[in-house]
Amino acid sequence: MDLELDGSVVIVTGGSDGLGAALAERLVTEGASVAICARGAERLEATAAHLTLLGGDVLAVPADVTEPAAVEDLVARVEQRWGRCDAVVNNAGTAAASRFEKITDEQWHDDLDLKLLGATRTTRAALPLLRRHGGAVLNVLAIAGKAPTGGSMPSSVSRAAGLAMTKALAGELAGDAVRVNALLVGLIESGQWRRRAESRGVPVQQLHDELVELAGVPLGRFGRSEEFADLAAFLVSPRAAYVTGTAINLDGGLSPVT
Ligand SMILES: NC(=O)c1ccc[n+]([C@@H]2O[C@H](COP(=O)([O-])OP(=O)(O)OC[C@H]3O[C@@H](n4cnc5c(N)ncnc54)[C@H](OP(=O)(O)O)[C@@H]3O)[C@@H](O)[C@H]2O)c1
Repeated sequence: MDLELDGSVVIVTGGSDGLGAALAERLVTEGASVAICARGAERLEATAAHLTLLGGDVLAVPADVTEPAAVEDLVARVEQRWGRCDAVVNNAGTAAASRFEKITDEQWHDDLDLKLLGATRTTRAALPLLRRHGGAVLNVLAIAGKAPTGGSMPSSVSRAAGLAMTKALAGELAGDAVRVNALLVGLIESGQWRRRAESRGVPVQQLHDELVELAGVPLGRFGRSEEFADLAAFLVSPRAAYVTGTAINLDGGLSPVT
């Protein structure tokens, strides 16, 4: 299926590794121009170089989505380079889960600042561009946002807030032809799992297998980052023109709720 992304411009936050990098790769192979941001400049440049080798038209902007000025600069540079933005993928994030009584106010603030406000400020900054031609916002969340378990805070609460933001914003922006959706991730291969395996000194496949067993993933395996990229690219593409205000689980059946 031609996703009709040729000539479009997409911002992917957290695009230097994992799911964001896989999506950026899928988008450039579909002919989209892609702006990626992340905090670490070295990995960001390496990912941008890889995407450019694939023939991609890529802008790499070192930016922390918790810094409002950095986010404004990211969007300004997109406008300067291409004069348009067709989609924003709010993907930047890190795992944060602990027992309730151990989570400090500062940790609650930090998690909401990264996951809820990071997405909020990036979307707000890009809205004037998105409204020009119509467009899409995709919030990358986690299945814990719909079905939190014990020990999943603060992330599950930040993700639940992201779900509410997705639905409310979809209603506000429908009249501007800007669609807003969420993708709820279960267990999908990415940099965070690679790093966790390295720090435990075990092969990444062993970690995947352990987590699949522990969680009881019905399809019996970790998701592949390309599988995330397929669905995310579709959701931001014009082929998903009638899809807005929804949140899709991508989890091999793991979530107990639809
Ligand atoms: N993979 C999964 O199984 C899974 C499950 C549930 C939810 N998710 C969510 O999916 C998203 C992608 O996760 P992933 O697994 O692909 O993680 P990852 O491999 O660790 O990649 C995260 C990306 O986000 C960037 N990033 C982190 N903090 C940032 C910040 N403050 N500002 C800008 N960029 C930032 C990272 O680069 P720098 O560190 O250099 O900034 C990196 O490019 C996250 O929101 C994550 O919470 C993933």
